[in-house]
Amino acid sequence: MKIDILTLFPEMVEEYLRHSIIRRAQERNLVSIRVVNIRDFTTDRHRTADDAPYGGGGGMVLKIEPVTRALHSLISEESVPPRVALTDPRGQLFNQSIARMWAKEPHIVLICGHYEGVDERVRTHLATDVVSIGDYVLTGGELPALVVTDALTRLQPGALGDNEAPEKDSFAENLLEHPQYTRPALFNNWSVPEILLGGHHARIQRWKRLQSLEITRSFRPDIFKRFLLTEEDRRILEEQSEEASPEPRNFQAEKEHNTECNS
Ligand code: ADE
Repeated sequence: MKIDILTLFPEMVEEYLRHSIIRRAQERNLVSIRVVNIRDFTTDRHRTADDAPYGGGGGMVLKIEPVTRALHSLISEESVPPRVALTDPRGQLFNQSIARMWAKEPHIVLICGHYEGVDERVRTHLATDVVSIGDYVLTGGELPALVVTDALTRLQPGALGDNEAPEKDSFAENLLEHPQYTRPALFNNWSVPEILLGGHHARIQRWKRLQSLEITRSFRPDIFKRFLLTEEDRRILEEQSEEASPEPRNFQAEKEHNTECNS
């Protein structure tokens, strides 16, 4: 897939793209990411990309012309118009199901919003989508564009190693992930759950599933409510409640308890 990022701060974005899975995915041509400097599409001597708002008020507003020219430079040769997403805290909240949908598209253009404002015609005439990464206001759209780029890139087939298949991820099935541990088995008297050390594959799988179910139920009851339990999930939960503590596990209390113990 092709991802184009239109920004006034290309260096900020490029650095992130030079690392880890995103770099590997580009090297293997699983994704082609271009970072386009909106300022390169200005026409005046001073390369002016923003201007004072009509009607007064503080701040500067990203101009419509350079954004339009930058966008047209990317799509003029194309028959299928790309999805064009403007980053903006007023937009649709980005989540894993949007990521899965967008990851299947051949081409997406991300326009990084400007911290002081963007000419509204970018949204009304150029963007097909407006996307927010959360209910907070950032200084610009670069981090949101990178968040989206990262989420789409790792969903490209082959972007992750075999052991890191995206279907194993949190949210892939709308369950959160089970806890992970690595060596040493005992550190500071903090131990790894016994079951993981035993090498009994089926029991370990059941334990992992139970943890995912319980963690999701505790931390994100909204997600748990929407999740369709399989027959096996019901059995695992029932057996657990018969066998073990009648109380559901309280992860927050455990965390507080551990903090107290270790302070
Ligand atoms: N620009 C500023 N804040 C943002 C946010 N939360 N999401 C997307 N774009 C933004």
